[in-house]
Amino acid sequence: MDDKKVAIEDIRAKKRSGEKITMLTAYDYPMARILDDAGIDIVLVGDSLGMVVLGYDSTLEVTMDDMIRHAQAARRGTKRALLVGDMPYKSFDTPADAVKNARRFIEEAGCAAVKLEGGADVIEQTKAMVAAGIPVMGHLGLTPQSADKLGGFKVQGRDAEKAKEILADAKKLEDAGCFSIVLECVPDRLAKMVTDESGIPTIGIGAGIHCDGQVLVLYDMIGLFDRFTPKFVKKYANVSGEVSAGIKAFISEVRSGAFPGGEHSFKMKDEELEKLRKID
Ligand code: KIV
Repeated sequence: MDDKKVAIEDIRAKKRSGEKITMLTAYDYPMARILDDAGIDIVLVGDSLGMVVLGYDSTLEVTMDDMIRHAQAARRGTKRALLVGDMPYKSFDTPADAVKNARRFIEEAGCAAVKLEGGADVIEQTKAMVAAGIPVMGHLGLTPQSADKLGGFKVQGRDAEKAKEILADAKKLEDAGCFSIVLECVPDRLAKMVTDESGIPTIGIGAGIHCDGQVLVLYDMIGLFDRFTPKFVKKYANVSGEVSAGIKAFISEVRSGAFPGGEHSFKMKDEELEKLRKID
């Protein structure tokens, strides 16, 4: 694998070459390191953090300080992949907020880019961040921060009217200067239209095969988060099963006395032990 750092231009170039873009989330040093070593293109410090790591019921409680702390940890494990920080709820209400908070991702956490959810409603924020020199990834379709407004965690753009709005929003985000767009939970034929009409790469999650790349929440796809599993997730591993088996074996071996064995213990010379016994 090439050790060269992935740049924004490399992501754009993949759309032209047809090589698929790979993106997964990470929220800490060890997982970011595993992703980076495995050759992932983009590590996204997603605000899914709120649900899969912090245990909230939604992403709405996640703060900028949470995101910065986790992005810093992920950055320490990311040497090659492009690191993208996800702008949490309420962090981009105005263009000035968006620029201030996006700068924190770049300057305090060493991210190369930020992602924000929304379409026509975030165009001014996107333009302001791009004008400030910050690379921006858009996010359309099912945008979890507005799930209540969208009628819950539902596929978006099944009807022609909503699909047209998503197509128009993708164009607006491209014109505003985004370098790529996440398409979440939209029909595959709509994702194909957006991908075909767009000059920037689309990265799909529950958006079918035609996107320029794919993203999943890491803890879903490795089977670590199992409170619920969306239909679009493929489980590539069963980490919670493995971890649970290891923990049960530890409990049983401690109780039976099989752990720790001699090989896990430190030794003391006989004469030191004798001396110790004679010390009053
Ligand atoms: O927060 C996140 O993990 C995301 C991905 C689902 C794209 O936004």
